[in-house]
Amino acid sequence: MIMQGVLLMLHLSSVVVWLGGMFFAYVCLRPTAMELLEPPARLRLWRGVFSRFFAWVWGAISLIAGSGLIMLVQHGFATAPRGWHLMLASGTVMFVIYIYVATGPYRTLSRAVDAEDWKAGAAALNRIRQMVATNLALGLLTIAFATLVI
Ligand code: HEM
Repeated sequence: MIMQGVLLMLHLSSVVVWLGGMFFAYVCLRPTAMELLEPPARLRLWRGVFSRFFAWVWGAISLIAGSGLIMLVQHGFATAPRGWHLMLASGTVMFVIYIYVATGPYRTLSRAVDAEDWKAGAAALNRIRQMVATNLALGLLTIAFATLVI
């Protein structure tokens, strides 16, 4: 049995990195970049921000899924509270959305920035924005499942 406290600590610190990063990007950095930067500088900024942030998110989602599943299995799947099952379901949707962003629109954004195709870059960034907003909302819902549903 791996210690529950250690698993929960890894789980929650990784959730903080992922959700906190998305909150900062969406709520603080995005409006400021819109206000201050023209498309070429803005798209270059986002490519750089995502390339660094996503490296952390790959680690964070691996730890969230790994620690969450171990805790669930150690407790017993069948007797786990309903909130844990809901957390597994919404967490899985969040992982799928993230993997789509990192392997789809983010790669398109990178290629567009290299080619200085600002129109294609802006379209890819808009897709990423929608997905990040969705994942941020799902993240809050998942925390509600984890803490409010028994
Ligand atoms: C594969 C997906 C996931 C699984 C299997 C999973 C499973 C678990 C389990 C078993 C616990 C332990 C609860 C306890 O000991 O009280 C837990 C705690 C928690 N998880 Fe997850 N989780 C997953 C994804 C997520 C995600 C994506 C988030 C947030 C966006 C999240 C947020 C939380 C929170 C806030 C707690 C603390 C709840 C508390 O201790 O009251 N989890 N998770």
